[in-house]
Amino acid sequence: MDHDFDERAATWDDDPGKIERANRVADAIRRAVPLDPSMRVLEFGAGTGLLTQALRDDVGPVTLTDISAGMRQVMEDKVAAGALPDARVWDIDLAEGPLPDERFDLVVSLMALHHIPDTDAVIASVATLLDPGGRICIVDLDAEDGSFHGHDSPVHKGFGRTALAAQLEAAGFTDVSIDDCHSVQRENGTFPLFLAVATAPAG
Ligand SMILES: C[S@@+](CC[C@H](N)C(=O)[O-])C[C@H]1O[C@@H](n2cnc3c(N)ncnc32)[C@H](O)[C@@H]1O
Repeated sequence: MDHDFDERAATWDDDPGKIERANRVADAIRRAVPLDPSMRVLEFGAGTGLLTQALRDDVGPVTLTDISAGMRQVMEDKVAAGALPDARVWDIDLAEGPLPDERFDLVVSLMALHHIPDTDAVIASVATLLDPGGRICIVDLDAEDGSFHGHDSPVHKGFGRTALAAQLEAAGFTDVSIDDCHSVQRENGTFPLFLAVATAPAG
């Protein structure tokens, strides 16, 4: 587990850039996928739940996962305070399983996939958890040289769009599209983010 996120959880939302990023990404998802108030949504690697908060008025029941206990505590506090209505917080790792016997209409994720070593396993889990025709929306870093996290970090150095599209198609997803979404400004550069959207395999 990445304990660093436990330590950062309590002050995560103090950064207006993270809130702005979640709002911009939610706008991009709204443009890419028709949302409706019956949709069952799963967000993995949800952190403090900022993306789901930004989508909350447009979808149905939401489920948030994160492997960081600190992040989950922040989300539980938001649920208790009414900031995340009709929401539940799960301690599951989609790369490890076991998967719950539940199905969803939309799975979203923001800046989490590059922290997960076995991306094939996560994508396969999402394919299982989505009902046929359900959609996956992943927002993450385009391929970079490692300077986003520092060159010694073990996390993925972003993702090549062609390779990610092939990975989604290999898992049975169809109608894969990957487009520009947002960017993160740092002192050492500007890091573009993509939005990958795909449709779950039919049964
Ligand atoms: C960069 S943060 C992004 C948080 C949030 N999505 C946001 O944009 O504010 C990455 C998150 O992914 C979580 N994470 C890392 N590996 C994970 C895994 N295998 N399954 C679920 N969450 C994971 C971390 O605990 C952390 O909260």
